[in-house]
Amino acid sequence: MTKIIQISDTHIVPEGTLAYGQVDTAKALAETVATINRLLPQIGPVDLVIVTGDLTERGSEEEYGRFKALMADLDLPYRVLPGNHDRREPMRRSFADAHWMPRTGPLDWQIDLEDFAVIGLDSLTANAAHGTLEPATLSFLTDALAHLSGKPVLAGFHHPPFAVGIEAMDAQNLRNASSLGTALSRHTGQVLMVCGHLHRSIAGLFSGRLCQVCPGTSHAVTLDQRSNAGNSLTKEPGGLLLHEWRDGGFLSHLVPIGTYPGGYPFK
Ligand SMILES: [Fe+2]
Ligand SMILES: [Fe+2]
Repeated sequence: MTKIIQISDTHIVPEGTLAYGQVDTAKALAETVATINRLLPQIGPVDLVIVTGDLTERGSEEEYGRFKALMADLDLPYRVLPGNHDRREPMRRSFADAHWMPRTGPLDWQIDLEDFAVIGLDSLTANAAHGTLEPATLSFLTDALAHLSGKPVLAGFHHPPFAVGIEAMDAQNLRNASSLGTALSRHTGQVLMVCGHLHRSIAGLFSGRLCQVCPGTSHAVTLDQRSNAGNSLTKEPGGLLLHEWRDGGFLSHLVPIGTYPGGYPFK
């Protein structure tokens, strides 16, 4: 049975600093890695961990180095995608030793697992917060889907393809989402879209398929749907998603990051 874990928006900053002066994102990533490693005996085997963007706060090689050092303790292989806080070339250089990291162009990749394929799409728009799937990425997706001929697909990217009512974030979502919908509409197999950016757990239909937004590992975007609410963070608990293939379909579990007392028998 194929299973992957998704984490998102780790926002690693240079050592000795807090993200936005508030959040120890490195501590949260260390706790995320520990949470995954601790879960594995209960849920394993898990094939892969994917990180759907905003690995770092500013896309510096120092921040990527810190991200990699923290992820080195993870007992699973992982792949990454860029978010609006990342920078494509420093990120490419920082993962140059990874076989799945493209040497040129968008940071798109694909991996075929037993029950479904995972297609990672680069939605970064240089020097902008909103997302775009460039023509090269849309071609990559179209070609990948054609070769998969109906095999189920989990498509991962950073920017949500729909609005969620948080005005400041909706202004930064995936601008050419309709092109994504058109490409996916040709696929006859099941599709689950997963993304990040909103630092919240949100599930919605896009183009008739389920799209699951992953919470961040360290902090949330404040749920405030009033107009002109501005953009702020709230220190809600971080979370991760376990996506699995079960009884012929996709299933996603939300798991809070951290250690909680439990295992108490129901009797
Ligand atoms: Fe983020
Ligand atoms: Fe983002």
